[in-house]
Formats: sequence, structure tokens, C-alpha cells
Amino acid sequence: MTKESQILRERKENLYKDELDALQKNDKGLKPENWYLSPRAVLQFIKGGGEIGGVNITPKYIGNSHLVETAIATLATDRALLLTGVPGTAKSWLAEHLSAAVSGKTSHLIQGSSATAEEDLLFGWNYASLIAKGPSEEALVPGPVYRAMEAGAICRIEELSRIPAMIQDNLLSLLSEKVIVVPELQLEVRARKGFNIIATSNDKDKGTYPLSDALKRRFNTVRMPFPDTLEEEVDIVSFKLQSDTVQFSDEVELSRKEIERVVQVYRELRSGQTLDGKQKISTTESVLSTAEAISTLEHCIYMAGFFGNSKVGARELAATLPGSIVKNPDKDEKPWMDYKRLVLAKREEWKDLYDELGGDERMKA
Ligand SMILES: Nc1ncnc2c1ncn2[C@@H]1O[C@H](COP(=O)(O)OP(=O)(O)OP(=O)(O)O)[C@@H](O)[C@H]1O
Ligand SMILES: [Mg+2]
Repeated sequence: MTKESQILRERKENLYKDELDALQKNDKGLKPENWYLSPRAVLQFIKGGGEIGGVNITPKYIGNSHLVETAIATLATDRALLLTGVPGTAKSWLAEHLSAAVSGKTSHLIQGSSATAEEDLLFGWNYASLIAKGPSEEALVPGPVYRAMEAGAICRIEELSRIPAMIQDNLLSLLSEKVIVVPELQLEVRARKGFNIIATSNDKDKGTYPLSDALKRRFNTVRMPFPDTLEEEVDIVSFKLQSDTVQFSDEVELSRKEIERVVQVYRELRSGQTLDGKQKISTTESVLSTAEAISTLEHCIYMAGFFGNSKVGARELAATLPGSIVKNPDKDEKPWMDYKRLVLAKREEWKDLYDELGGDERMKA
């Protein structure tokens, strides 16, 4: 669908409108009030599989079904949902798709940062109107949480632990009472059924603004893992690279073997040992996630299509791998050099890649 569209990143409710409509029409599951789909249909939307009303339901999140079920069930309870994990484990991805399936829209969103203020979360004022007429409902500018509460929909808060603690504290009473009070108007906005919050928080930001215990208690936390096996990770990468959002994926040949090589390099550098468990290696500080493997290989597809022979091979891998692995030269350069010398140089079947990476000559330099 996106191929015909001029929009770089379409909203999920528009991108998957056919799937969502078909699921809704044929939905016979128990549905919490104001949900767009029943939890069972939300699960099918996220995990994919099967044909409903002639529409193929594509997988969105590939991995543990139990984790997705827990996340969906949380949204029907009084608690909010917190997705945590290292960067690139599809926290935002899952949050966005859950929001599309549970509420039928993804528009209530806060991109958390140290600049996030109370009015970004709750409400602000149109100052021209405020000065001219004093506090009034017209002068009130509702924030995303406010709008989601009125609509009985999901509000996403990205990168919760990058929001200053003082601002995070606003969520404490909001999540218990499910009400926003506007004292100037003596107004109480009570959340409609269906309202809930999905927050994401990156492990790497743990130290920025740690969540208070009180806030943690209001969330049910789901930890997003890395894929268990090489095969599973290769399946995710391969599926994502075949999707319509990757241009030229039909014109450029990318074999499973090349995907496996990138994923294996990442998994080995991530776990600190070779896949067969025989050799210990040092790990990089940069997180080599599935998401990183997807973008590295997407880059390879463009390189092969624009400048190569339309086939991704050692040349493209060698051009993109070092930049994706060595993000922080002080910490990542040594593990990468060691990996090339101790692992790649000895892996006979990967000689082409080792040579393209500069091989022995570069090692000597
Ligand atoms: N298990 C998976 N199933 C489907 N897609 C995945 C999976 N793991 C990673 N991805 C892909 O990785 C990409 C990046 O994921 P996303 O941006 O959601 O990561 P994140 O955990 O929010 O990272 P950050 O902490 O940096 O914000 C998405 O395009 C997503 O499709
Ligand atoms: Mg994210």
C-alpha cells in the first residue's frame, strides 16, 4: 500500500485499514467497552496469520505470543502498560500497532524528552484567548492524555524515562483517579472506558529520570526480549525487508545466507561468544539489535541497487557493517577489531567478507 502512497510513514490505522476493517466485521470475541477490536482479534492483528473476509492478516510483531497476550490483557485492566527493554526490541513498534488495534487510532502520542512539560501531557492554554477573554473552554488546549481520556482511547508515551521526574509525577494521580482537573474552569475530565496508557522506556535511559516506585506500581511491565534463536531473528529481518516499505526489495537479490551473516555477527558481538559457544569475545557498547540488522541490510539493498550488481554480497556487507557496529569508537573499535582478527579471519566460509573488510592488509595497518 505504501508504495503507491507519497507518505513516508503512514499511520498504522491507515496502512492496515483493510485488515482492521475485516477483523472488526468478523469479530466475535469478548470486547471491552470502547475497544475497536476484541482482545482476541487484537492478538491476531499483531501476530498475523489467517485470512479474514478475504483479507490476509500479516504478522506485525514476530515473537512470543504470551508476551503480546499479557500486553493486551493489561490494557483492559486498571493498570497501564510499560514496555521496557534495550533499544531496537520493537517497543515503539508494538505500542503503535496495539494502539491501532485497540482504539482504531494512533494519534494520541507524547514523544517524551527532557523538554516535555506539563502542558504537553495534560493541557495548556491559548494565551491570546486567555488574555482576551480569561479562562474558558475555548482557551483550553487539551494535550494527548486529555484527548485520549475524552475519547476513551489509548495514549502512547514514548521514552517515559526521558521525561523529568517532576512531570512524570503528574501521571501518579491521573493513573489512579483517571481524572484531570482544570481548577481555573472548575472542570473535571473523567476518562471514558477504553482509555489507557502504553509507555515505552529504554534500558539505556535508566539513569536519566528513573521511574519512582509509585509510578512503577501503576504500570504492568512487559520486557521486550531479543529473539531467542538465530533462525527467529533471521525470519524477522527477512520479513521486514520484504515489506512494502523497503524500496527496491523486489529488484535487488538478498539471499538468506547474507541475512544470516549479518544477524550472526550481531548476535555474537551481543552475547560475547561465537554461535557455537566455543570462543569468548568482547562485546560492543552499542546495542546490536534486530532493528539495527534490518537497517544495515536495507542500506545494503540500496548500495547493491544503486552502485552494485543488484545482488547483496560481501562487498555491501563490508561497506555497511563497520559503521553499524562501531558507533562509539572508544568502546566499540577494539571489540570489532578483535572480532575480525579472532573470528572472521578464521571462518573459512566467510573469507570473501573478511577480504572485503580489508583482510590481512588492514589488520597489519
Ligand atoms: N520481534 C520483532 N518483530 C517485528 N519487528 C521487529 C521485531 N524486533 C524488531 N523489530 C523491528 O525493529 C524496528 C525498530 O523497533 P522500535 O523502534 O520499536 O524499537 P524500540 O524498542 O522502540 O527502540 P528504542 O528503545 O530505540 O526506541 C521496527 O521496525 C520493528 O519492526
Ligand atoms: Mg522506541
